[in-house]
Amino acid sequence: MILIKEPNAMHDYVNASKRTGKRIGFVPTMGFLHAGHTSLASLCRTRESCDEVIMSIFVNPLQFGPQEDYEKYPRDMDRDTSIAEKAGVDVLFVPDASAMYPAAARTKVEVEEMSQALCGVSRPTHFRGVTTVVAKLLNIVNPDVAAFGQKDAQQFFILQRMVADLNMPVQLVMAPIVREADGLAMSSRNVYLNEEERKQALSLSRALVMAHQMIEKGETKPAVIIQRMTAIIRQQPLAKIDYVAIVETENLQPIQTIQSPALIALAVLFGKTRLIDNIII
Ligand code: PAJ
Repeated sequence: MILIKEPNAMHDYVNASKRTGKRIGFVPTMGFLHAGHTSLASLCRTRESCDEVIMSIFVNPLQFGPQEDYEKYPRDMDRDTSIAEKAGVDVLFVPDASAMYPAAARTKVEVEEMSQALCGVSRPTHFRGVTTVVAKLLNIVNPDVAAFGQKDAQQFFILQRMVADLNMPVQLVMAPIVREADGLAMSSRNVYLNEEERKQALSLSRALVMAHQMIEKGETKPAVIIQRMTAIIRQQPLAKIDYVAIVETENLQPIQTIQSPALIALAVLFGKTRLIDNIII
């Protein structure tokens, strides 16, 4: 596995690879890798038949709000390097914040409306940070395919809009959510949870399973489903609901009657730890 730090060196490397006809897969991450991240590398290699898989690790300051966890976001480069190598990553791109955001930089990329829905209500500048950094990373790495997880479904649909709106020559693919054995969606932030919070956090996947069952039994009213999901989560004394919503995948606007495809998404706080999870039906 090759380690590259400079954006220009990364760009030159990919261009040389592409000249030899290689298909390039790209997995952007903020590190502290787990099986959710490595599943994206496997997806590039197997389903998308990429010859080379490039993963970036960059804790992007622009997507953290002023009161959020940028400083204490978990980081462990030695551990990540070994996990990425075992996962078959060919190139690890690890730029410095100063190389990504030189003092003179003035440009941001924003996908309007979709960025203000769901997580955008309590994190109003978050998705602008995500779209800005991913646009930059896609320009630097210039991949044929870039893989993202359904775990961050809103992020995926916003990025898909960005790539279409800006005519970016890349195909985005979405990978299923990788879960712990008991159902909790894997996340770098799960390390923040104490034992009791970790136990109560299982109510998120339980609520989503319940929603799925209700729809299979014929329930079509989002309000009824949301009410049941909310009740399940509220049984947990440490859970503070940010939102439970059922929206269209295309524009992230609430839907009136259940029809495919719909995104059922939620965000819940346990202490200061904000967890998200979802299903797409
Ligand atoms: P990060 O949270 O590190 O996630 C990197 C990628 O891994 C994202 O596409 C995310 O959806 C995916 N992922 C995380 N947990 C997953 C799980 N349990 N199952 C499947 N996929 C999972 O998302 C970001 O970083 C950043 O916003 C980024 C896109 C890198 C821009 O900074």
